[in-house]
Amino acid sequence: MIGVLNHVAIVVPDLAAGAAVYRDTLGARVSEAVDLPDHGVTTVFVELPNTKIELLHPLGEGSPIANFLKNNPAGGIHHLCYEVADINASVAKLKAEGFRITGSGEPKIGAHGKPVVFLHPKEFLGTLIELEQA
Ligand code: CO
Repeated sequence: MIGVLNHVAIVVPDLAAGAAVYRDTLGARVSEAVDLPDHGVTTVFVELPNTKIELLHPLGEGSPIANFLKNNPAGGIHHLCYEVADINASVAKLKAEGFRITGSGEPKIGAHGKPVVFLHPKEFLGTLIELEQA
């Protein structure tokens, strides 16, 4: 079902400092910060040859990652995103097997303009998983 690792998302307390670590210390190609108000985050995209790292920082009130940062003040890995060919088929398979889809349970348009769902970490080895339609 899952294909390519699309990105690893890391929540950081300071986006400029996080971007500097990836750009200056690790020598990666790093984007400018991009506000995604619909998702309550500001993101810096780190382009690697085989995948992306997304540095996330809360944006606005009620950001979905505000509690994560409160619980992990130094930052930390927030989720892994895997591509799937058909998100509706993937959701149907998981639901039929009794797995939970977080939120409404239906795919939503994610940070890259493509349909995504998030799977509950309790059912996936303690890791929040995002599935994105390729
Ligand atoms: Co993501």
